[in-house]
Amino acid sequence: MKALVIGGSSAIGEGIIRQLAAEGHQVTFTYNSNASKAEALCQDIGNDSRAVQLNLADPAAVDAFLAALTANDTPDVLVNVAGVTHDALSVGSIGSALSQVHTINYLSPATICARIAELMMPKRQGAIINITSIASRFPRAGNAAYGSAKAALERFTASLTLEVARFKVRTLCIAPAFVDTPMFREFAKGQDKEIIRSLPLREILAVDDVANTVMAFVRGDIKTTGITLALTNGQPVL
Ligand SMILES: NC(=O)c1ccc[n+]([C@@H]2O[C@H](COP(=O)([O-])OP(=O)(O)OC[C@H]3O[C@@H](n4cnc5c(N)ncnc54)[C@H](OP(=O)(O)O)[C@@H]3O)[C@@H](O)[C@H]2O)c1
Repeated sequence: MKALVIGGSSAIGEGIIRQLAAEGHQVTFTYNSNASKAEALCQDIGNDSRAVQLNLADPAAVDAFLAALTANDTPDVLVNVAGVTHDALSVGSIGSALSQVHTINYLSPATICARIAELMMPKRQGAIINITSIASRFPRAGNAAYGSAKAALERFTASLTLEVARFKVRTLCIAPAFVDTPMFREFAKGQDKEIIRSLPLREILAVDDVANTVMAFVRGDIKTTGITLALTNGQPVL
């Protein structure tokens, strides 16, 4: 089985890749700036894994990456993990910042889903997983760009599902709350303990909580398609 992970140099991406590799998948993954981590991860997991540089902020680079894929490269599993928060207030001249956050978190992942789904359909199998965020449902001052981009990816995935389901291509958006990663620590700005104490469960998710969910869907242990599954720190999501 082949897997393609977009954003394998992320904390959550690495966790997913390690579990995919442990279950025998040959993994190709992308990174943006962290070539040394990508190289080290490739060497560590072996099994003909491959790391490719791809900047999701550059639509031409995404198009070129996708155009180079042939039917032989068709993955059985696609996981879109790369993402940026770039939190900022929503007032004032936000055009270019908004455009960048939406390109990285929504437009490029959606473009990749669309092309990979097209490759999966003739094979009558495939699993597409997009890592979104509960920020899509929990507005906060400063997270309009990030939350709306994740919401757009969830909504895009829902419609794509209707077009590909009869070809046995399944989709899932996984929307985590806080996960113990550098992204969370950057957000917390040293207030990690206070934030965690304020959560209903008084704990945050681990990378493997997300990776376990990805693997359960890949194996078919979770029988669904087209939904967004929230993984929370106890926040009720209706
Ligand atoms: N951590 C959390 O609390 C949390 C909660 C909910 C959802 N999520 C979501 O989970 C995913 C992974 O989060 P994480 O905490 O593991 O992230 P992370 O460690 O901060 O890593 C961010 C990833 O995004 C990649 N990236 C950044 N800008 C990029 C660009 N222009 N083009 C391509 N890739 C780019 C980075 O690549 P390089 O390092 O190679 O530059 C890296 O792989 C994200 O989509 C995030 O929104 C995280």
